[in-house]
Amino acid sequence: MDNFIAGLPKLELHLHIEGTLEPELMFAMASRNGVALPWPDVESLRAAYEFDCLQSFLDLYYRGASVLITEQDFFDLTWAYLERCAAEQVVHVEIFFDPQAHSVRGIPLATVLGGIERALQAGALAFGISWRLIMSFLRHLSEEAAFLTLREAEPFLERIHGIGLDSGELGNPPTKFAGVFAQARALGLPVVAHAGEEGPVSYIWQAINELQVRRIDHGVRCVDDPELLRYLSDTRLPLTVCPLSNTRLKVFAQMADHNVLQLLEQGLCVTINSDDPAYFGGYMAANFQALVAELGASREQLCRLSLNGVEASWLDLADKARLTREILCYAACHGVTLN
Ligand code: HPA
Ligand code: ZN
Repeated sequence: MDNFIAGLPKLELHLHIEGTLEPELMFAMASRNGVALPWPDVESLRAAYEFDCLQSFLDLYYRGASVLITEQDFFDLTWAYLERCAAEQVVHVEIFFDPQAHSVRGIPLATVLGGIERALQAGALAFGISWRLIMSFLRHLSEEAAFLTLREAEPFLERIHGIGLDSGELGNPPTKFAGVFAQARALGLPVVAHAGEEGPVSYIWQAINELQVRRIDHGVRCVDDPELLRYLSDTRLPLTVCPLSNTRLKVFAQMADHNVLQLLEQGLCVTINSDDPAYFGGYMAANFQALVAELGASREQLCRLSLNGVEASWLDLADKARLTREILCYAACHGVTLN
């Protein structure tokens, strides 16, 4: 099964690039940039990866991101992620970055975007990995701060493919950002939002009705509302689900309790993603493996999850058709029947 997962073409649609910062690289950057970290070494940093909720993770995530200073840092970070993707047959990525986590430290958007984009361009050439880039607003900050970030991004909008909303969910409902999301849409940018990770079903409805999202990031709390489940299966509005993240952040007590296969069988367009893989114990393949080991996912279900990734992506129709054929071909070659 591990070989089947390794070879299956996979698409990642929910990935925070700052969340791919492995401890070794964090320490190397801290050292070369003269940034002090509160952990003496890699081992004690890894030992701190015991989270009891989203906020306990975010505190560490922002501290880790503080070592990212130069354009080369953002390149190295993104390149390391793309090398993992290539090794795991991840063929398309739609990744978030958090400009406000860097602008507060005086790092210009041009530096952040330049390094990430240069790596993505190199990754397309070296590995054939296609990409989209999603600029996320930090929801624990004000809507005014998000407006300012959007204004600062205006010279770069040709290079940014969409807008997202992340950071601490509870107490920061999508409604808080209705104005700035309306402006983003008016600028022609598709939008997504984290909703229903720790927050209630009402946040998912707000993201749909008030932000007009193209996808919900996480969304696993949708099970609390039969009407929402019906809506999601009727419209096929995608949910980008992150199994290892959800268990590490105690959204589900254990993987055996995760609802993603149940949602898949109810006809929802759920996809599998790694969120912040350096912090949550694994990249795409590890997430697929966990579904098999803990939930008994079949090879057919894994193929359908990958096909959902194609459907939920922002690729153009020709690329979607090509990747759909690749996945169907892979399934057929391995004797997997898809209806
Ligand atoms: N949830 C919300 N915000 C985030 C996350 C997450 O999992 N990762 C990085 N920012
Ligand atoms: Zn996320």
